[in-house]
Amino acid sequence: MKKIAVFTSGGDAPGMNACIRAIVRGAAYHGVEVFGIVRGYNGMIKGDIIPLNSQSVSNIIQRGGTILKSARSKEFMTAEGRQKAYDKLQELGIEGLVAIGGNGTFTGAEIFYNEFKIPTVGAPGTIDNDLYGTDYTIGFDTAVNTALDAVDKIRDTADSHDRVFFIEVMGRDSGYIAIQCAIAGGAESVMIPENLTSVDEISAILQKGFDKKKSSSIVIVAEGDEEGNAQIVAKKIKDKMGENLDIRVTTLGHIQRGGIPTAYDRILASRLGLGALEGLLRGEKNVMAGVVNNQLIYTPFHDTITKKKPVSEDLIRMVEILST
Ligand code: F6P
Repeated sequence: MKKIAVFTSGGDAPGMNACIRAIVRGAAYHGVEVFGIVRGYNGMIKGDIIPLNSQSVSNIIQRGGTILKSARSKEFMTAEGRQKAYDKLQELGIEGLVAIGGNGTFTGAEIFYNEFKIPTVGAPGTIDNDLYGTDYTIGFDTAVNTALDAVDKIRDTADSHDRVFFIEVMGRDSGYIAIQCAIAGGAESVMIPENLTSVDEISAILQKGFDKKKSSSIVIVAEGDEEGNAQIVAKKIKDKMGENLDIRVTTLGHIQRGGIPTAYDRILASRLGLGALEGLLRGEKNVMAGVVNNQLIYTPFHDTITKKKPVSEDLIRMVEILST
């Protein structure tokens, strides 16, 4: 394989730049020509594809976001869109792809391979950490630390005013950010999609705290929780526990997607980027590079897309025990 391309797709994540850098520098080391596709699958369809070299990725390892930009492409979901993308890759003689992204990105890559046989290896880049086949995804650690910084600050004001705060963190279908923030931030409770905690249970936990003279409490809510988002949950609690309860809601939102990647994310991204590239050059296809038990492994896209990575029961239990 002599010509490859790299792209980022779906929600951006801190550390994606470190991953791009590892792929580009790795390609230079192996004597492979490398292109960058701008705005994910949309750029592939439009032919927005630029040559990259070692210098193009200087001074980016510490930057959040993605220098290649990102998008969620509707057009790539159509057969016509994918045909256009294939034609553009053919024009440039691109023989293989490294895709940095999450579930949606790998679903697209698998369909594309089935139709056009362009081999793709993925690197897991999403703050949600919801991908089977890797213990951690690029951006998760930074997102947790960003959210945790906010939780610590909110704890100060919650304590000063004897308030209950519901803090909503990201995670469309996943409670990874929420559970880690809850443990590290000493939250009274956590609500995640993987483990239904009812409004009755939350109010019982809060009441137990008041009975023990706790004056403030923090509940972390994953945006994808079944009871609803933090606003909805807070309203239900107020209806149940009474108007006198002083409740505030904070939604952290996209602040969690930006910022300087942590050392952990830069190292993970570099390892996964180089791992994805070298896998592709060795003939891997339709797989995602991941790190499981500190070993670099490759998992078929099909499994990363369809299999669930459950939040450990231990962690859920820990929040319960440590908040009493
Ligand atoms: O997948 C990452 C993520 O940040 C989710 O946690 C969140 O639900 C979603 O992306 C938000 O997407 P968008 O930036 O398109 O609103």
